[in-house]
Amino acid sequence: MMTFKNKTALVTGASSGIGKAIAEKLAAAGCDLILVARNEAALQKLATTLQNQYGNIVLVIAADLTHPQCAPNIYQQIVSKNRRVDILINNAGFGTYGPFESIPAQKEQDEIAVNISALVSLTHAFIPGMLSRHSGKVLNIASTAAFQPVGFLSVYAATKAFVLSFSEALWAEYQGRGIHVAALCPPAVNTGFIDKLGDPAITKTSTFANTITPEAVAVAALKALSSSQPTHIVGLKNWLMAHSVRLAPRSLVARSAANKLRPTIISR
Ligand SMILES: NC(=O)c1ccc[n+]([C@@H]2O[C@H](COP(=O)([O-])OP(=O)(O)OC[C@H]3O[C@@H](n4cnc5c(N)ncnc54)[C@H](OP(=O)(O)O)[C@@H]3O)[C@@H](O)[C@H]2O)c1
Repeated sequence: MMTFKNKTALVTGASSGIGKAIAEKLAAAGCDLILVARNEAALQKLATTLQNQYGNIVLVIAADLTHPQCAPNIYQQIVSKNRRVDILINNAGFGTYGPFESIPAQKEQDEIAVNISALVSLTHAFIPGMLSRHSGKVLNIASTAAFQPVGFLSVYAATKAFVLSFSEALWAEYQGRGIHVAALCPPAVNTGFIDKLGDPAITKTSTFANTITPEAVAVAALKALSSSQPTHIVGLKNWLMAHSVRLAPRSLVARSAANKLRPTIISR
């Protein structure tokens, strides 16, 4: 396991769910933190708890990651406080569920902005410093949805396919240059993410019927940070599923994934 003492990790989406659990695990391991999300009160509460419990330095930056200038703004705030980022955890994200035509176009643009654009911009902002120190980690939270097209979660799954491809490409690009980039791919996790999909019936689908805890994902995240591999799929069954779809025709994979998530009001 890598040592997190005297390191600073920036965690996006740290106000709840997986990001909060990762921040808690990193703090317990001795890591200083920069917590980013929109909900400043939730971030401040977490920062105070972690500072009191572990004595870490915890900085809070309230930011809306749909904003095109979010990454340079966050970078400037960190530099102005004489802090640096050793570990970047691009975790913030959300999904949109339902028939494509029923989802507001702006909501899906915001989803692309948070899940993709902000993740790329933050990576751009912090990689140069890591390169100059010949040391750094970037962990991007993708999903098992990244491994196949998923009808009714079409834009969400496509954003996660981007995150996976981007992370693996940078992993290869930065070999031998002191920087490790990786993607973590959890299955369904018991967080507010599922409620925000907006259809309680989704919890009856095979994809979302069984969930793991955000704490289990956080344990996997710290393992991923200590590993040299590019891709980390949480759970053996999910690993097998992710790899088995490569052997099947893509049309079959796409139909099967859509059928699993077809909303009950939509007939085939
Ligand atoms: N839960 C699952 O089933 C599951 C499975 C696989 C992968 N994931 C991925 O895991 C990551 C974390 O999700 P979660 O399950 O922990 O859900 P969550 O509890 O809803 O947390 C999402 C986090 O993202 C932040 N966020 C959302 N929109 C934002 C914006 N515009 N600007 C800044 N921050 C924003 C939220 O903070 P604010 O609302 O305070 O801004 C929150 O901290 C996401 O990338 C998600 O795609 C989730």
